Amino acid sequence: MTEPDFSNVETAGCPAGDAGRDMILRMNREHGPLRAWGFAHIPVGRSVLDVGCGAGAALRELAEQYPEADLTGCDISPLAVETATALNEEFVKAGRLRFLRCGVPDLPFDDGAFDTVFSVESLYFWPDQLAGLREIRRVLAPGGHFMTALEMVGGMMNERQLAIVKHLNMVCPTRDELAELLTAAGFHGVSVDFEPEHRWLCASASR
Ligand SMILES: C[S@@+](CC[C@H](N)C(=O)[O-])C[C@H]1O[C@@H](n2cnc3c(N)ncnc32)[C@H](O)[C@@H]1O
Repeated sequence: MTEPDFSNVETAGCPAGDAGRDMILRMNREHGPLRAWGFAHIPVGRSVLDVGCGAGAALRELAEQYPEADLTGCDISPLAVETATALNEEFVKAGRLRFLRCGVPDLPFDDGAFDTVFSVESLYFWPDQLAGLREIRRVLAPGGHFMTALEMVGGMMNERQLAIVKHLNMVCPTRDELAELLTAAGFHGVSVDFEPEHRWLCASASR
């Protein structure tokens, strides 16, 4: 059997090089419906953090929709930070949006710094999901909201998705596992919604 072609996702865990650039630009375009579904689950506050922001389309959309919001994106990939900053130059120059190279579980932000934290299609790659979620809870203000939206769902993947998960060593929780992780991280009001047509998961919770 021939090995599937993974070249368009090879660096998904930390985008780099030409293939990584193509991938994050494609995700900027293609994750729009997943982002929109995710944001239907939480209110967006005044100070917002995107963990694993890639090329930054989610924060660009929020900058356009919420003129009062103060927005921060973080990603472990230098290419993602550089690309997101370049694509959002006008908001960055205006001081409304910034992109930083850092990631969970070590975020360089004060306790309670954000009203809203979200993460789209990133949790599979974190070195320790529970520690990452605890760190997100730490930087959330009391009463603040967290949302993560995922299209690779444990126990619900097709053959190609399973091959990608194995090749990239991704950890894809089931719906129940995701709820357990958020609860173990100390969140309240944990809810995990499933979208049957695309087989997406969205977990939302508050501090
Ligand atoms: C599949 S991409 C998704 C990018 C973007 N959220 C989107 O939907 O277009 C996953 C991103 O998570 C980032 N990432 C992986 N591990 C991370 C960590 N521990 N902390 C923060 N970001 C991380 C990767 O560098 C990559 O940019």
